[in-house]
Amino acid sequence: MKFFIDTADVAEIRALIDTGFVDGVTTNPTLIAKAGRRFEDVIADICALVPGPVSAEVAATSLEGMLTEGRALAKIAPNVVIKVPLTPAGLKACRTLTQEGTDVNVTLCFSAAQAILAAKAGATFVSPFVGRLDDVGETGMHLIHQLVDIFGNYSHLTTQILAASIRSPLHVVEAAIAGADVVTIPPKVLWQLYEHPLTDKGLATFLADWQKTGQALVPAKAGNQTNL
Ligand code: G3P
Repeated sequence: MKFFIDTADVAEIRALIDTGFVDGVTTNPTLIAKAGRRFEDVIADICALVPGPVSAEVAATSLEGMLTEGRALAKIAPNVVIKVPLTPAGLKACRTLTQEGTDVNVTLCFSAAQAILAAKAGATFVSPFVGRLDDVGETGMHLIHQLVDIFGNYSHLTTQILAASIRSPLHVVEAAIAGADVVTIPPKVLWQLYEHPLTDKGLATFLADWQKTGQALVPAKAGNQTNL
């Protein structure tokens, strides 16, 4: 399962790069607004940092507007993926842009019926919003399971299931159990994936017990203490 980072904060992405877990980035107008910088500059900076797919969402709602904006955004860098909403105009734009060779991420997906349309429109990625479905009392992860089952029936289908609106490490685990192709994770949640109190406790015990041996795996140079 690929890990995309769900943010437009370049500093947060830079801090995550050397984890080796950044396979791509997704942004949206809300995340761009939070960044407080010119949209095209943010996308250019992210694309320069991350070689994988970087989703940039159009603001237009008409077919012509989406095509104009999508074609302009696609010129920023070869790894730009154009994000369009799951609307009739959005899926028409998806079909045209993918036929022109531009990858498209169809976003704001909340049902299997919608995702089937996105796949038939040639979407590179479809983004079902798990957290927002949970927020309204549905079981968002159920949609991911449905899509894995449905898409798995058609070997020719290339649309990737990009589990989005992720709120916790449990969502990441459940998306992997379901078989999502990609999960897009807020930076905070990715850092939480490392955390377990028993790891901290166990390491502290190992270090304390090692200190008791008085040994050093690497001979200390004169004048400095080498810690494990
Ligand atoms: O960026 C797409 C999606 O992951 C945003 O989800 O619900 O956190 O705004 P949300």
